[in-house]
Amino acid sequence: MAAKILVVDDDPNVQRLLTYTLKQEGYEVVVAADGAEGFRLWGAEQPALLLLDVMLPKLDGYQVAGKIRAEEGAGSHVPIIMLTAEREVEQKVRGLRAGADDYLIKPFHPAELLARIKSLLARFAPRELLVGRPPLGRIVAFYGAKGGVGTTTIAINAAIALHRELGRKVCLVDGNLQFGDHRVFLDLGLDRKSIVDVVTAPTIDLDLIKQVLVKHDSGIDLLLAPPNPETAELVTQDHMPLVLDQLRGLYDYTLIDIDKRLDEVNLHILDAADTMFVVMTADLSCLKNVRLVLETIGHLGYEKQKVQLVLNRSNAFTGINVKNAENALKRQIDHQVVNEYRGAISALNSGAPFMFTKADSILGRSLLEFARALDRATPATGKAPQLAPATR
Ligand SMILES: Nc1ncnc2c1ncn2[C@@H]1O[C@H](COP(=O)(O)OP(=O)(O)OP(=O)(O)O)[C@@H](O)[C@H]1O
Ligand SMILES: [Mg+2]
Repeated sequence: MAAKILVVDDDPNVQRLLTYTLKQEGYEVVVAADGAEGFRLWGAEQPALLLLDVMLPKLDGYQVAGKIRAEEGAGSHVPIIMLTAEREVEQKVRGLRAGADDYLIKPFHPAELLARIKSLLARFAPRELLVGRPPLGRIVAFYGAKGGVGTTTIAINAAIALHRELGRKVCLVDGNLQFGDHRVFLDLGLDRKSIVDVVTAPTIDLDLIKQVLVKHDSGIDLLLAPPNPETAELVTQDHMPLVLDQLRGLYDYTLIDIDKRLDEVNLHILDAADTMFVVMTADLSCLKNVRLVLETIGHLGYEKQKVQLVLNRSNAFTGINVKNAENALKRQIDHQVVNEYRGAISALNSGAPFMFTKADSILGRSLLEFARALDRATPATGKAPQLAPATR
């Protein structure tokens, strides 16, 4: 699922360094040593982004960028980062005029290059996704085995990672109907629309749902929980699968955050989901709950890989390590997210998820790893549409 990057540079040392840096980060790399070859490979390889040197044999970087912009069809735009040894503003302006989206002066730090690549890919991915291919249509439930284990933290940040880092189109649903707190985590007022506006309408259709979705600055769409506990009961067990089914047709991923109750509403949500991530911590009461949940869920006849365990705060000292937990549960823990209280709580209290503002932090990296694993996993129930090739 790695994005393909085309490096156009005639210097073998630069080629080697860039190839190494990009591959380390998980990108696929194609190299061209002159402008004409670069232009040809842009057409043949359809890269997600170009790193384009300015001084090149045959065609220079400006010419290559100009030709690409002239040839690519309306609605498509491959991001181009120009690389140059020149510090002159004039050069920079020329590059941008020719169609570059960004500019880096050699020598540059690999971290800066990677940051710019990521931001450009995130900026241009959603448009490609909309026009390029049908959505993956996967529904993923995040179920907290106990209150306060970090279910909401993981659901929100995984949603943002899937969108911003992996180029997926994502909707996040707050399924904690009585006490949903996505408004707090994402710094949104009580006045925003919620799922209540969907279920109280005479018919539930896609147009209505689209109007009720709230766009977050990170680029993900949100379906918020009722603004107060009294209205929560308006949402019934039959509503949730209907709403999720509509969202399936619109998004690569619909993530839904739910609490530990195994009531009818939650069971209907779990039924509709392709994958259920049970979020837990390594303490006795949580282990007890996970065992009970696994038992109950066992009776529902789900396929084995539909239910996956996520150990949050995995390296926190609790006296129970991962091995102990696995032994107690007689099954493997599928995913782990590190413990980093300061990062988690300051993101919560500022209303800015760490995956949005501090993707490079310890927690951000841990969540990205989790999101990558989630994205690699095939839907268990086969309800989702055929897997389309990722654009990135
Ligand atoms: N990986 C982590 N490391 C450290 N602290 C974390 C981590 N994940 C979550 N937390 C902290 O744990 C607390 C509970 O998190 P969160 O609200 O996400 O849990 P929850 O399971 O959704 O809770 P609730 O039952 O209230 O819905 C928050 O203060 C959060 O900052
Ligand atoms: Mg929560």
